[in-house]
Amino acid sequence: MKKIRLGVLVSGRGSNLQAIIDAIERGQIPAEIAIVISNKSDAYALQRAQKHNIPTVVIDHKAFASRKDFEQALIDELDRHRVDLVCLAGFMRILSPYFVEHYKNRIMNIHPALLPVAKGLYGEHVHKAVLESGAKFSGCTVHFVTEDVDGGPIIIQRVVPVKDDDTVESLAERVLAEEHRAYPEAIRLFAEGKLEIVGRRVKIK
Ligand code: GRF
Repeated sequence: MKKIRLGVLVSGRGSNLQAIIDAIERGQIPAEIAIVISNKSDAYALQRAQKHNIPTVVIDHKAFASRKDFEQALIDELDRHRVDLVCLAGFMRILSPYFVEHYKNRIMNIHPALLPVAKGLYGEHVHKAVLESGAKFSGCTVHFVTEDVDGGPIIIQRVVPVKDDDTVESLAERVLAEEHRAYPEAIRLFAEGKLEIVGRRVKIK
């Protein structure tokens, strides 16, 4: 099967990037990571990529006069590497309709709750909201990115229990373990041409 080319956008720790790298190296995804882009020069994700000889580049949003200029620089870099799918993996910038339109139906994100739960929230705010809601289950969602932040068609969700004595940290850890299964799986399905977007729904063929 022909390998697709991934561009992974990161800002921090990069544990999801690591899960994608590991799945590719195990031969589980017909893909290669063409470029990892970080908007933060100190993101640990960059070191993870470099350890696996994956090209990296820092594009610092603060160096650009406007969001459009920043996104144009991202697009130029992704296009130069002939990227088929853009994977947001802990990327802490919201992408405008300009960027989203350029890679229509070719951008994925992972959210650490069962969307639409905690839509628009990030980091520990997500798990705090889940704990405050009293929900018995949380999980993670891999979805296509549209102009509606955290509102694009859902590809995969994985569920974890919420325990009575959970803290933000313990819940985040349980969810993260499922993120590391869900993201590689969603990318595999895309790479194998098994995802079909029908309105708000993603059909898995
Ligand atoms: C994950 O919890 C992900 O759901 C969210 O940002 C976090 C990134 O973690 N979008 P990492 O950088 O992949 O370790």
